[in-house]
Amino acid sequence: MKLLVCGGAGFIGSNFVRQRIVEHGDAVTVLDKLTYAGREENLADVRDSAGFEFVRAGIEDAAAVAGAIEGADAVVNFAAETHVDRSISEPDAFITTHAVGTFVLLEAARASGVRYVQVSTDEVYGSIEEGSFTESSPLLPSSPYSATKAGADLLVASYHHTYELESLICRGSNNYGPYQYPEKLIPLMVLNALHGDPLPVYGDGQQVRNWIFVEDFARGIGHVLAHGVPGETYNVGGPDEAVNLDVVKRIIALTGASDDLIEYVTDRPGHDRRYSLGSEKVRALGWEARVRFDEGLERTVAWYQNNRPWWETIRSGDYRAYYERQYGRSLGM
Ligand code: NAD
Ligand code: DAU
Repeated sequence: MKLLVCGGAGFIGSNFVRQRIVEHGDAVTVLDKLTYAGREENLADVRDSAGFEFVRAGIEDAAAVAGAIEGADAVVNFAAETHVDRSISEPDAFITTHAVGTFVLLEAARASGVRYVQVSTDEVYGSIEEGSFTESSPLLPSSPYSATKAGADLLVASYHHTYELESLICRGSNNYGPYQYPEKLIPLMVLNALHGDPLPVYGDGQQVRNWIFVEDFARGIGHVLAHGVPGETYNVGGPDEAVNLDVVKRIIALTGASDDLIEYVTDRPGHDRRYSLGSEKVRALGWEARVRFDEGLERTVAWYQNNRPWWETIRSGDYRAYYERQYGRSLGM
């Protein structure tokens, strides 16, 4: 199969590309703008594979997209601005990428008559105190990130309804694993713990997330690409829920850091309390998560411990300025 993977140089996209090349022998073109979160190094081990191409461009660039989609059998769109905190302080890029970018990709897929998978998130449903969201739960996004992701989902669905585009939507829960940019909870806490930096817990730390190991989510997306019904949405949630403070304490135990590093900081505005996804529909297609949180977290901490050059360049670059703006203090070296 020949795939156009947009946003394939980011965290989940690069794991997906690796899986498609290694396990399926696909020819893959990655189109990625290489924002702060996108890194060609994430694809270093697969870039010499047969049929691999890399195009540096935004999904909102219609000419670049038209060139990249030529000969593709399907498009999988991961390209997005993905950090909720950044969407609160600087929402502009979220609107351009999720609204305009998704529109440009949909038009290109329609012109080429190819299958289209939109990678989306449980955050479009908002927060849930008890029980789990199903695919027919109402959309009630809380942040500029989730609101623009929800808008993109609605546009994707309209292209199936109106133009009969073979489009599908995959909504994932919180991913963790190798290659995740250290602005997100788990890699941030792992690297701070390894450096003896404070571990900033928002609010009371009692928020709950539904964790999925990135390889399981990537496999779920591949499964929907192959077996999903056009026009349908599939939730792909992880096997375990965890309270943020417990996640931080498990990371402390795995890294041998001290509990004294925990620091309660001002809560995120509009912070969603709990996410939980029911994934019966994708299970009925034959997908199952394979990695439980305990095992996945151990593997993730080991990956960061063993891949120092990957994160050293990040921690010594623009990330330091981001961190100072976000947390009002500097990182240790
Ligand atoms: P990421 O931030 O690690 O990677 C995003 C990638 O998209 C980067 O390579 C970036 O350069 C690229 N990109 C950004 N804007 C672009 C544009 N305009 N044109 C082309 N490329 C662009 O994100 P991630 O965590 O890998 O998330 C990937 C997708 O999965 C996103 O759509 C996100 O909403 C969704 N998702 C993420 C999670 C999670 O927990 N991380 C969970 C569910 C769904
Ligand atoms: O649920 C899926 C979503 O998960 C994806 O769509 C998003 O792209 C992804 O970023 C993630 O969103 P969250 O906001 O849940 O992830 P984040 O890692 O930013 O935060 C996880 C939880 O940890 C959340 O309750 C906020 C909290 N947190 C986060 C950071 C960065 C802290 O307490 N301290 C921190 O320093």
